[in-house]
Amino acid sequence: MKILVINGPNLNLLGIREPDIYGRRTFADLLALLADVAREENLEVTQFQSNHEGAIVDKIQESLGKIDGIVINPAAYTHTSVAILDALKAVSIPAVEVHISDVDAREPFRQISYPGMYCEKTIKGMGLEGYRQAILYLKQTYGKA
Ligand code: DQA
Repeated sequence: MKILVINGPNLNLLGIREPDIYGRRTFADLLALLADVAREENLEVTQFQSNHEGAIVDKIQESLGKIDGIVINPAAYTHTSVAILDALKAVSIPAVEVHISDVDAREPFRQISYPGMYCEKTIKGMGLEGYRQAILYLKQTYGKA
């Protein structure tokens, strides 16, 4: 099973960026976690990070016919991007949304998620472990027995 993990703007600065909110684990730690999950679960997991909305839209479009499940943390684009929502709807690939922080407990502008309107599930406030849970959900739901 092929899973694509997409990370939006500023997530490349994990570990440096607002550690009180996002923790001290770095983006390299996240990549290592994804590699561990891929090995343990016998999955093909690729990761794409971009600070650019259009690049994320392009990556989702390119996934058509190639990827079985998407894990997406759209970061700030969560709260603004109808384009990412429409791209997910266009390719119709099962998707799970992840947020490292508990967005529910934060500012009012973080309470809306456009990509979340397509995603089957949203995992928030679990730190980097949320990515593992999202991948396991996709495997359990869509992986071949
Ligand atoms: C985030 C939450 C967003 O509100 C924020 O803009 C981010 C990260 C999270 O993982 O908690 O950049 O998606």
